[in-house]
Amino acid sequence: MRLLSTLAVALLTTSQSCDAIALRGRPNTLLSTGPTPRALLQDTVTWDEHSLFIDGERLMIFSGEFHPFRLPVPSLWTDVLEKVKALGLNAVSIYIDWAQLEGKPGEFRAEGVFDYDAFLDAAKQVGLYVIARPGPYINAEASGGGFPGWLQRVKGHLRTNDSDYLAATDNYIASIGKIIAKHQITNGGPVILYQPENEYSGAVGVPFPNADYMQYVEDQARKAGIVVPLVSNDASAGGRNAPGTGKGEVDIYGHDGYPLGFDCANPNTWPAKALPTNWHVTHENQSPSTPYTIPEFQGGSFDPWGGWGFDQCLQLINHGQERVFYKNNYAAGVTIFNLYMIFGGTNWGNLGHPGGYTSYDYAAPIAEDRSVAREKYSELKLEAQFLKVSPGYLTATPGNASVTGLYSPGTAVSITALIGTHDSFFVVRHTDYQSTDSTTYTLNLPTSAGNTTIPQLGGFLTLGRRDSKIHVTDYPVGDYSLLYSTAEIFTWKKFEDRTVLVVYGGPNEQHELAIKSSSTNWKTDCSLTVAAKNGSVVVNWQTTGKRRIFQLGDLHVYIVDRNSAYKYWVPELSSSSSVIVNGGYLIRSALVSGSTLNLRGDFNSTSTIEIIGVPKEVSTLKINDVAWLYEKNTQGNWESAVPYIKPTLPVPVLSKLDWKSIDSLPEIKPGYDDSKWVVADHKTTNNTFVQPLRTPTSLFASDYGFHTGALLYRGHFTASGAEKTIYLSTQGGSAFGSSAWLNSTFLGSWTGTDASSAANATYTLPNLTPGTPYVVTVLVDNMGLDENWVVGPDEMKHARGILDYDLVDSNALVTWKLTGNLGGEEYADKTRGPLNEGGLYVERQGYHLPDPPLQQFSPSAGPTSGLPQPGVTFYAAKLPLSLPSDTWDIPLSFVFDNTTSTSSGGAYRAWLYVNGFQFGRYVSNVGPQTVFPVPEGILDYNGDNWIGVAVWALEAGGAEVPGFELRVAGTPVLTGRGKVEVVGAPGWVVREGVY
Ligand code: GAL
Repeated sequence: MRLLSTLAVALLTTSQSCDAIALRGRPNTLLSTGPTPRALLQDTVTWDEHSLFIDGERLMIFSGEFHPFRLPVPSLWTDVLEKVKALGLNAVSIYIDWAQLEGKPGEFRAEGVFDYDAFLDAAKQVGLYVIARPGPYINAEASGGGFPGWLQRVKGHLRTNDSDYLAATDNYIASIGKIIAKHQITNGGPVILYQPENEYSGAVGVPFPNADYMQYVEDQARKAGIVVPLVSNDASAGGRNAPGTGKGEVDIYGHDGYPLGFDCANPNTWPAKALPTNWHVTHENQSPSTPYTIPEFQGGSFDPWGGWGFDQCLQLINHGQERVFYKNNYAAGVTIFNLYMIFGGTNWGNLGHPGGYTSYDYAAPIAEDRSVAREKYSELKLEAQFLKVSPGYLTATPGNASVTGLYSPGTAVSITALIGTHDSFFVVRHTDYQSTDSTTYTLNLPTSAGNTTIPQLGGFLTLGRRDSKIHVTDYPVGDYSLLYSTAEIFTWKKFEDRTVLVVYGGPNEQHELAIKSSSTNWKTDCSLTVAAKNGSVVVNWQTTGKRRIFQLGDLHVYIVDRNSAYKYWVPELSSSSSVIVNGGYLIRSALVSGSTLNLRGDFNSTSTIEIIGVPKEVSTLKINDVAWLYEKNTQGNWESAVPYIKPTLPVPVLSKLDWKSIDSLPEIKPGYDDSKWVVADHKTTNNTFVQPLRTPTSLFASDYGFHTGALLYRGHFTASGAEKTIYLSTQGGSAFGSSAWLNSTFLGSWTGTDASSAANATYTLPNLTPGTPYVVTVLVDNMGLDENWVVGPDEMKHARGILDYDLVDSNALVTWKLTGNLGGEEYADKTRGPLNEGGLYVERQGYHLPDPPLQQFSPSAGPTSGLPQPGVTFYAAKLPLSLPSDTWDIPLSFVFDNTTSTSSGGAYRAWLYVNGFQFGRYVSNVGPQTVFPVPEGILDYNGDNWIGVAVWALEAGGAEVPGFELRVAGTPVLTGRGKVEVVGAPGWVVREGVY
């Protein structure tokens, strides 16, 4: 240990100068210590054992996961991307959901809300790199893990090299691969990396690892024109498919990590032993020639039906988790780092798997309503901006994890050193990482001035609850160098006339930094203690809410507390210059044109904006394209006031709309004609998950092309008179429900629980007349198809619909018919895609679309009128909105009353449609979601909207819907984002062949 630190000092003393340019030389990949890299197909994206290089420039890839398919408003993609960019991140990682793009085998469609060309253009325009992850398998809490439902009919094992499965993937990867290939960096686009497959890490009952399969999906990508490096995301640090492992190996190995798991039940408790401390060592063993890559790291959590809600997940996976866990990853030397999710979005239109509800907020830094008010957004910005100005981190060598006693006396804190050629980084955390104590400590760090005990001017450092810090030594700041800093660095910039460094500390903490200089020409604040010591100027202070500025020569050190640092932004003016902006809810970008600086940003309160480092040639200011007055403050920085006057936002009271309703279960009316329904006549099934069939013909919906939303079955039989009960086994996925009728008589329902994905029920039948035909109608809620995380069991093939039935004591033959969405795989609505609509009568008719034929409806008081008996009623109304959306970003949500008890009526389910897009599934007896955000663009904020609610009452007494409202749920923000284009999508027309 001692030896290490002496060595470090020796290294540090030999090379003290810093020059970012020196880091830009082309890497020599052949010098890598690991296996010889495969020949690269391009020379734009290269790497060595430390990091990636783009066009020869060494850089950290700090990325956030964003699923364009969970925000079906293309003009808002830019909004989210700008919010990612403003953090200081330089990339987004995207999954692509195959199920949405190839609803019918062989027919690939990626237009409108599914337009990845447009998304990749937007990323390019905002200035973010893209890591493309199209699958074919993605997991992602998506229905089928991204697999289209028709894969249930593939006999072979999914995610293996069984030929029918492979053949099924070809068209998709060829088609999406072509789009991605076009947008590679080698063609001037943003795509720098490509991930084939997803967590190809474990199997049961089939040969594994399966190099042939991995190689196949890699070859598929190459065939489609992908030349950028291929990356993997092993589910855990297992070294699978790492370079050197032979067939199926990727170019750059990566593994995922979700150390705190996904149970938000105890949001204040961090489980024991969850902090990984062996990741650097493991990486060195598994893939020493590639940059340490974490393609997915826990940026939040999913939450299941009946879960705790995202507020509680946010408490668990919060800014404290970011401090301790992310910094632990930096301690392990991660240089390709992606947070899953940076923005979660919405499981609109049945795209989710059954383990999740409509919201996919994920407790991510950017909320589902795209707001950035969460503290974890701000904390992430502090970390990302720091790494962005710390190129030395990229080549620093991580030492032993979490050493105690070496860099700090005592055992309360552990420190991991990353020793660089000049600057070094010391990551401090509580030895007991779960500790919520505040601990005092001192440091003994190797510096170019020898081992230095810090603080030199007295006092103690403090590590607060759930905190971790990065202390630096010999850290370059333009032409200056910090011998050390205990205060964390937010950013620094060398401007024309001065260099500005912004450092921060937690409330009331003692901090110290030392600037290497023999000058005594400093200007200080009397609340700072300053002394010249051994060739350095040492500054010591206690953090307060007041900013202090220390000047030495033309170095200006802005000393702030963490909450103030949160308010700083560093918008780029070009790839090599920025301004620093203090204030504003969000600063998206800064652009100099001629003598004008135009800041684009958002404001959620009256704010003062301070702009630091305005270029000399600039003399006028615009904020969001509007000329703005400014004054120069004592620092020479520009200051400007932005008033915020909360607008009055007239949001209609939903109960006062002119509602109309229509019965959406005509199937149980006498004389209902189901002659156009599909006859369930398959005597066998290709679905290999369930063999043999338990019914004379398959009743699995996917065998007949119905993969999404509600399913309806009609079983015809002629009674013998002996029938007393009917047994029904239905399966729809977690929290599903099902109801059954004999002719018009309600038999009963399975109302659903979060834990049950299938249910068996025996319903009593009324007395039946022998020789008379009857029909059993069964409505089953398909909650989405299961994922297929483990290879082998093919869980994605878990059928939906009726698994088994028995007319007890009767030998009457039942002939079944079924329906899901109109047309099945020949789905009717090409704009909203193959998953958006299910098989409810109103969906088949298209009445959930704008402008339904209201003459067929009846006047109604709307959804809150409730249903006196079990059944399904659909309510539609025109919702006019007139909101000042050019300048305001206004978060609107539809809210169901959260009365989950059955005292005021039975359990019910509701589907919410907004201009035809299904934007909510509410399950009154399971929860937890009651608030359903709907983005502008789906809603026309200046025009008429059509909203529809289908309510399914499951219990004998019907259901009451206690409340249904539209709310401004959140703070309206004065915004600098571009205009939101309303998504063009067709309204109702009479559909051909409809029933
Ligand atoms: C990972 C998987 C992702 C997502 C995540 C949990 O294992 O790769 O697709 O499912 O877990 O949110």
